[in-house]
Amino acid sequence: MRVASVLESISAGIRCFASHAGRAGEVVGSVDKKHTISGVINVPQRILMGPGPANAHPRILAAQALPLLGHMHPPFLAIMDEIKSGLKYTFQTDSPYTLMVSGTGHAGMEACISNLVEPGDKVVVGNAGIWGERVVEMSKRFRGEVTDLKVPAGQTVPYELLKQTLEQQKPALLFLCQGESSTGTHQNLTGLGELCKKTGALLLVDTVCSLGGVPMFADAWGVDAIYSGSQKCLSAPPGGAPLFLSPRAMEKIQRRKTPPATYNLDLNLIGDYWGWFGKRSYHHTGMVSTCYAMREALALVNEEGLESMWSRHKELHHRLWDGLHSMGLKSFIEKDEDRLITVNTIKVPEGIDWAALIKNAMDEYNVEIAGGLGPSAGKVWRVGIMGYNARPANIELVLTAFKDGLKKQGWKKF
Ligand SMILES: Cc1ncc(COP(=O)(O)O)c(C=O)c1O
Repeated sequence: MRVASVLESISAGIRCFASHAGRAGEVVGSVDKKHTISGVINVPQRILMGPGPANAHPRILAAQALPLLGHMHPPFLAIMDEIKSGLKYTFQTDSPYTLMVSGTGHAGMEACISNLVEPGDKVVVGNAGIWGERVVEMSKRFRGEVTDLKVPAGQTVPYELLKQTLEQQKPALLFLCQGESSTGTHQNLTGLGELCKKTGALLLVDTVCSLGGVPMFADAWGVDAIYSGSQKCLSAPPGGAPLFLSPRAMEKIQRRKTPPATYNLDLNLIGDYWGWFGKRSYHHTGMVSTCYAMREALALVNEEGLESMWSRHKELHHRLWDGLHSMGLKSFIEKDEDRLITVNTIKVPEGIDWAALIKNAMDEYNVEIAGGLGPSAGKVWRVGIMGYNARPANIELVLTAFKDGLKKQGWKKF
């Protein structure tokens, strides 16, 4: 290369550098204004009677608007401690290992799987719908050896099948979804904690749409790990995932040969931020406002009392079904004992356009009724009875919306 051309290319490089960098503090380039938004946010008010989120309690929304604290400030750490304590009550446990994962139910799910499953571990998944499906997929991603106990949509996983599988396979983990919101089933957990202990498995339970709406006794039932969600029976906005580990589950995490393949959801590190080990270390910036909301949500649970919450949900479930039956509608779930109280699945009768009924409910009554999901898509409507929304007036509104929607489609059975 000639000397002149070398000098030319060096000076072109310097010109190019100068035009990108500018002088310290100098703005180089011009702002493209084609993508902008302005004005105050506009959100319609709706009554959310689908499978979640449910409407949040006003006291929880007010708490969420309180001034921010630093995520390591002592008054905020005290709020985190209150959450741990409120969760102990809500899960019914004395285990010191409760906290709220920053993220939705999926973050709780992934925190449990990624920490409790080591590569090569056997994982048995009771799969009654899309949440079982996702745990199958997630466990494989964390290199578990999965046995997928898939049951037909609308059924729960039979105790005998679980017993036989646990005894034969001796897995490290058994997963069950207490409230399968895609199909509307309630998995009975009786006797499974004991069985898991006998066969050396940990019992992991999804309670995203059931915690606070139906009984859960983590210690008495021998459950080892639970994740949940904020936006359903706990009446808070989405964004926080309550989590519980038994001392047995904690031992397994501490005995791991390799750290979990996720830093963000490493429960040793998150637990250290939440004070599980007698100190506090920064792991991530805690979700300050979401923690205020969770603190208030748990205070409401504690004030109302679990028994009273469970019976409120149950009563309204019966009230809903009295009304639906009187219109000639039927449950998607054959067996009474398998029906979930908090997410109700209603069979779409032949000749009825389910989507038109949902649209009519929203247009005319401002109320959300949802369609099916995964295995129940196109076959059911789903009505949530959860938390702050579990009130008689809301059930009446849903029934009125059903009646009107069916009438408009020429339904004659009432
Ligand atoms: C039973 C169940 N598990 C898990 C999830 C996932 O939770 P999220 O959407 O908050 O991540 C849901 C959400 O509807 C659920 O109902």
